[in-house]
Amino acid sequence: MRRTIVITGGTDGIGKARARHHTEQGDLVIAVGSSAAGGRRLREEVPAARFVQADLSSIRQTRGLIRELRDEHPVIDALVLGAFRYNPTRIETPEGFEHTFALYVINRWLMAEGLRESLEKARTPVIVNLCGVGGIRAGEIHWDDPQLTEGYRPFRATMQGARAVELLGMAYAGERTSYVLYNPLFVATGMFKPFRQPVRGLVRLMSAVFAQPVARAVPPIAALIDRPPAGPLTAYRKGRSVGLTVDRDLALRFEKTVHTMATSLPR
Ligand SMILES: NC(=O)c1ccc[n+]([C@@H]2O[C@H](COP(=O)([O-])OP(=O)(O)OC[C@H]3O[C@@H](n4cnc5c(N)ncnc54)[C@H](OP(=O)(O)O)[C@@H]3O)[C@@H](O)[C@H]2O)c1
Repeated sequence: MRRTIVITGGTDGIGKARARHHTEQGDLVIAVGSSAAGGRRLREEVPAARFVQADLSSIRQTRGLIRELRDEHPVIDALVLGAFRYNPTRIETPEGFEHTFALYVINRWLMAEGLRESLEKARTPVIVNLCGVGGIRAGEIHWDDPQLTEGYRPFRATMQGARAVELLGMAYAGERTSYVLYNPLFVATGMFKPFRQPVRGLVRLMSAVFAQPVARAVPPIAALIDRPPAGPLTAYRKGRSVGLTVDRDLALRFEKTVHTMATSLPR
């Protein structure tokens, strides 16, 4: 049966490899990225995938994308959340949010919530959230200053995002949808691009030597989409199931905070 699979960050790295894999299986793939260049690359390399251009760090553009997806695809089998950008310096979006938080946290929450109905209608619905958790004890929520207006550091922002995603997974209340937190660990993608020299060269070199080729990161994620795990929330690190110790009350409190932020802009 032809499935419908939405992949944010589907124009590069792990997302693009996923798009290739699923179109080869005959699935309908909708790949979202922010740049026209990414769309061109996808059209050349994975012509069967459908490209949608949207800046997912924008709440308004995310809402527009959700509306479009809901109208065109009443049934969505899988939502892969992979849009991400590492920001060496603090960037504020035009809507007033720190960029990492807007893209990694608010967007992923909006996508999962906004497509809930379409997912729930699928035979075996699954959300795969590509992230940096999975048993790694790092990162904390800066409750007093989640937008990191003071003391922004890129690693701090990234790891706060990773922890946030874990809490949002715990708070997600799909009735049938399996929510999977998936940390692929070190995969050779274009992740060196945002860094400035000399760090850029160093990350590129480390990636070439130590990282897993992107094609090898695909099969374990594909298996989770083909046969979603039982249970509302599971976590994996490079294909291996790992335990989660997330406080549900804390998760619900955090979700409420994100909900307030995401609905603070008029529709
Ligand atoms: N690679 C690793 O070693 C690794 C390790 C742990 C976790 N992960 C996670 O896996 C996921 C994918 O990583 P990757 O290394 O494959 O990433 P990547 O190669 O850097 O690709 C990032 C994707 O996100 C899109 N994107 C970036 N900003 C966007 C925006 N504002 N709106 C819409 N799309 C946007 C990019 O397209 P445009 O540039 O056109 O916007 C691109 O398609 C991420 O969530 C990452 O946290 C990766």
